[in-house]
Formats: sequence, C-alpha cells, structure tokens
Amino acid sequence: MNVLIVHCHPEPHSLNGALTAITADTLTPQGHRVVISDLYAEGFDAIEHPRHYRNRQDSQVFSALTEQRHAFEGGQLPEDVAREIQRLEQAELVIFQFPLWWHGPPAMLKGWFDRVMVYGGMYSGSRRYDHGRLKGKRAICAVTTGSPAEAFEPAGRAGDIVRLMYPFHCSLYYLGLEVLPPQLAFGIQGGGLAYQEETAFRRHLESTKTDWRARLKGLEGESTIPFSGWDDWDEQGRLGLRHPLRWR
Ligand SMILES: Cc1cc2nc3c(=O)[nH]c(=O)nc-3n(C[C@H](O)[C@H](O)[C@H](O)COP(=O)(O)O)c2cc1C
Repeated sequence: MNVLIVHCHPEPHSLNGALTAITADTLTPQGHRVVISDLYAEGFDAIEHPRHYRNRQDSQVFSALTEQRHAFEGGQLPEDVAREIQRLEQAELVIFQFPLWWHGPPAMLKGWFDRVMVYGGMYSGSRRYDHGRLKGKRAICAVTTGSPAEAFEPAGRAGDIVRLMYPFHCSLYYLGLEVLPPQLAFGIQGGGLAYQEETAFRRHLESTKTDWRARLKGLEGESTIPFSGWDDWDEQGRLGLRHPLRWR
C-alpha cells in the first residue's frame, strides 16, 4: 500500500514527530511505501494568495476558485501544489498527523487544504462527496491534544471531539476520501500545563506510542465512518425525510 503522511508540527522531537516516525518505522517493514509531506520542514506556503498565479484568468479581481481552475486546466499549478497533488494521487492511505491547536488543525494544515485542494481539479460541483475525485482512497487523522480525554466528551470544557473533528472529516469526505475513526492522543501536556505527575505522564506517552503502533498494524481491515451521500440528499442538500440519520 502507498501511504502518504501529511505531517504538521514545527518540532521533530515532539510527540507528533515521534508518532510520524513510528508510522514510517511500522509500515515500511510491512512492505508499504511511505512518503512524508513534512509541511514545516519543507517550508510549505500555507497562504492562498494572488502571488501564486502568474498567468491569471482575471488580472483585475482575484478569485481563488477562478485562478485555481484556470491554473489546473492550463497545467500551470504552483510547483508545491502540483507536488502535493502528485503525492496524493499516488497514495492509497493518507495519514494526517497534527496537534489540536485552537480546537482545530494548525493554520498551516488548514492552508494546505486551501491551496492543494484546487477547484476544478481536485473537486467540482459534480465531483464531490461519494462522487469525489479521491474516492477509493482512505484517510485517518492522528491528533494529539493538551486537554485530557474527559474534557472532550459531549458538553466537556474542551469541546465534543466528534464535533471538533467534523469540519476536517467532512472536508476529506468532500474530496471523496473514506475516513477512518481518528487516532486521538489526549492529555499531552507541555508548557507548564500539567494534568498528571511526571512519571504517570511518561507512562502515558509510552502507551500512546504503543497504541498507535498496534493500531497501524491492523488499519487495512478497519471500517470507515459512515457518511450520507448524493442518494440521501434532496436538491438543497438536506437529508431525505425518511433517512435514519435525520434528527429534526
Ligand atoms: C497554539 C496552540 C493552541 C492549542 N490549542 C489547544 C486546544 O484547543 N485544545 C487542546 O486540547 N490543546 C491545545 N493545545 C495543546 C496542544 O494540542 C498540545 O501541546 C500538543 O497536542 C502536544 O503534542 P506535541 O508535544 O507533539 O506538540 C494548543 C497548543 C498550542 C501551541
């Protein structure tokens, strides 16, 4: 299997750095081919901006959607975006490794979506969700958090983790990817915020790594998160009245 890790963390010696190393060290000996997009190390420019488009369709008013489609169709995508798309196209499994920052992914990873998932190329009105261009590929988020697990329960102070992950998961599904339940490493304290005493925390870090190593070995056999699709929606994108997932 071809695996792409999209790694978003500024420090290689962090837990996120260790988890990405574990992923590569676990999957490679199993015969999988692992490629890492290390966004910070590669200096990925996460800001969608007119400067990326030399031959604009509209030189007066900048519309990201218009210029993305124009660049894609003209084979003039920015080099870094074209490289990321090529990596995605070759991947069968995409692993997003990142810490939770302000209740979501770090800005650099959000910007990776803004720039790499080009309109007219990676998606269009007719190529979305279960008709998406990346259909057949799988994705999983491996996320670390500062707050402990209990705080992410529904109505917990850190926010319900299912709701916090929804925008990211929905974006992946929008592109056609099938999404595995996330790997969540809660309570990774640092910078003076301590929820556990030092020895217990060290043990927690080790079990976090052991859990991920063990899960990686069986990832291929896991089921993905169910989403509704085009057959379930009406013209306006509402769930059909009789659909079992409809709640109001
Ligand atoms: C800018 C920033 C924002 C953060 N926001 C959150 C947050 O919203 N929720 C949370 O639980 N932890 C938050 N944290 C803590 C990080 O998630 C935690 O330090 C990280 O997951 C630990 O993994 P690492 O050692 O690999 O960095 C934040 C940390 C930073 C630097």
